[in-house]
Amino acid sequence: KSYEAIEVSQHGKLGLIALNRPKVLNAINRPMVSEILDAMEGFEADSSIKAIVLSGNGRAFAAGADIDEMANDQAIDFELRNQFKDWDRLAMIKKPIIGAVHGFALGGGFELALCCDLLYAADNAEFGFPEVNLGVMPGAGGTQRLTKLVGKTKAMEWLFTGKRINAKEAFQHGIVNQLISEELLLEETMKVAEQIANQAPIAIRLIKEAVLKAVDTSLNEGMEFERKNFYLLFSTEDQKEGMSAFIEKRKPQFKGK
Ligand code: HXC
Repeated sequence: KSYEAIEVSQHGKLGLIALNRPKVLNAINRPMVSEILDAMEGFEADSSIKAIVLSGNGRAFAAGADIDEMANDQAIDFELRNQFKDWDRLAMIKKPIIGAVHGFALGGGFELALCCDLLYAADNAEFGFPEVNLGVMPGAGGTQRLTKLVGKTKAMEWLFTGKRINAKEAFQHGIVNQLISEELLLEETMKVAEQIANQAPIAIRLIKEAVLKAVDTSLNEGMEFERKNFYLLFSTEDQKEGMSAFIEKRKPQFKGK
């Protein structure tokens, strides 16, 4: 399948989506979001794919939503086209999504990064929500996901000032899992993704679901949810295999069943 705004490839058990509008620093227009979701859902439906990696071509991950595209929009245009329906579909992807961020991850680009389950960043990565400088605010979950991740204090500061946060600061605040040199970013991210792709797929799937539940619910409700997923894993062959392998002191062979 060929796309206009992204590049898609398969590497063993990994699906790679690279944002590909490098001339405009991968500014995210509506076709790009639909293509990302089309590719993600393709990977989701493909049982040979166990994890998805998201990166950006050129000198940035993504410098935000495409300002040219929305400059003349009226409020009701967003409402009538249900602007964020594709973003909602992104939150439904059950396979792990691992982001590799270099250069700018601003506005919608930062929001896309915050949708990843794990995030690896190059030393030159810069995050931020500059929307305030344009007289607007994030609309694809930025105020919510950032606040849940770093707390109110920093979220307010960054959203009010629109300032850019460097890679080190992002790492210190738990936004990224690890910093990697730009040359090795994609390679190292793919390695981590491959490790995850080799784990028992249903366990990974239900862990992702349970962790995301924690972000969105009370402790007690989350605990009940976790418990059901924990019980459910004992209906899989991979659980029997994983535990037998431990007892027999050998490596498990997971089948995703
Ligand atoms: C459209 C963009 C763009 C964007 C960069 N470009 N960001 N086009 N939308 N968000 C284009 C520039 O116009 C320019 O095109 C080319 O990419 C290269 O960018 P430069 O500005 O020349 O590069 P540089 O001087 O290195 O500056 C990089 C930058 C700056 C600091 C990232 O481009 C910038 O401030 N961009 C806007 C960042 C922003 O405000 N993002 C939030 C958008 S609002 P030409 O044709 O001139 O070469 C948002 C709302 C989200 O994200 C709502 C939910 C989705």
